[in-house]
Amino acid sequence: MRSHRIAVIPGDGIGQEVIEAGKKVLSALAEKSGDLCFEFVDFDWSSQRYLEKGEYIPAGGLDKLSRFDAIYFGAVGSQDVPDHISLWELRLAICQGFDQYANVRPARVLPGVNSRLKGAESIDWIIVRENSEGEYSGNGGRVHQGFPDEVGTEVSVFTKKGVERIHRFAFQLAQSRPRKQLTLVTKSNAQRYGMVLWDEVFFEVAKDYPDVSIDRELVDAVTTRMVLKPETMDVIVATNLHADILSDLAAALSGSLGIAPTANLNPARTFPSMFEPIHGSAFDIAGKGIANPVGSFWTAVMMLEHLGESTAAERLMAAIERLTASGLQTKDLGGTATTRDVTQAICADIERQ
Ligand code: NAI
Ligand code: MG
Repeated sequence: MRSHRIAVIPGDGIGQEVIEAGKKVLSALAEKSGDLCFEFVDFDWSSQRYLEKGEYIPAGGLDKLSRFDAIYFGAVGSQDVPDHISLWELRLAICQGFDQYANVRPARVLPGVNSRLKGAESIDWIIVRENSEGEYSGNGGRVHQGFPDEVGTEVSVFTKKGVERIHRFAFQLAQSRPRKQLTLVTKSNAQRYGMVLWDEVFFEVAKDYPDVSIDRELVDAVTTRMVLKPETMDVIVATNLHADILSDLAAALSGSLGIAPTANLNPARTFPSMFEPIHGSAFDIAGKGIANPVGSFWTAVMMLEHLGESTAAERLMAAIERLTASGLQTKDLGGTATTRDVTQAICADIERQ
């Protein structure tokens, strides 16, 4: 029996609903396989906890978390806590604390899902996001607060080490895919220091991967290419901020934000990696039981792959595709199914296989 210890952090809003659904599906998968089991340990690290106790992560929390095989995360964000506090004190505290520098975001139109984009069937991208520095390095400050001459700075940080490791990761990923194609996203025309380093290191690393075909695109231009020529891209590497924006666009083009998964990887495996749907806590639908749980299911597939459970990962992905193809869909995809309907349907399908 192979057993994996999973730390579960549902967080806020629909994070709680979709992670609950994801646990059910993983349990159904384990039960069916017979030689696989998950030990889930729940952590109540959320905005509610912050409002009650003044902290998201208790003292010693990260240390405790570091002993798990993986982290299954919902979303964080509350109307009662400023977003920069919730994001930095919970999600980024884990990503940066565990050096999860590679954020991987696949985008594909699943069977039965309607995209508003003509030709969307050809979307098959993986966006690789630098997840430890760049625009979100937390480097900046505010002076003369409250006075007319107040100043705020937000200084991006690009280190050669940080840039090299993410490019190398992206090249290796591109190399493992049939098309072996990598697009560098940049803004080195307007930003002439960090972004130029970003480009230079990319072309240096490229010499080690002669079988990967490469191209370079400015971030503004790449948005139009994603919409007008989706078939021309495979793996895309971009900075923390650029990839954050591009991956929401990629999710919307492939049907809904409710479908897209992501992995925050610590490729060295010194620390556990964290897996989460890319959406947030969705105030507008939280508590209604209508959130699309497919993003958290696909996230579970990525977690299984990372845990070395490739057969279980393939089985779950196939079940997700049968589910979307069946037309049983939540409101964001134009259907009327609830989170529970979708979860029950996929669990039943897993049992039948
Ligand atoms: P959001 O992703 O929560 O919602 C955007 C829109 O997409 C909403 O209309 C929502 O109903 C819809 N949507 C998202 N996921 C869905 C799902 N699974 N099924 C159906 N519809 C879905 O983004 P928003 O509104 O910008 O942020 C809300 C809060 O979440 C904020 O506090 C924000 O900071 C936080 N957030 C947290 C993230 C994280 O924990 N990784 C990521 C993005 C936002
Ligand atoms: Mg985002």
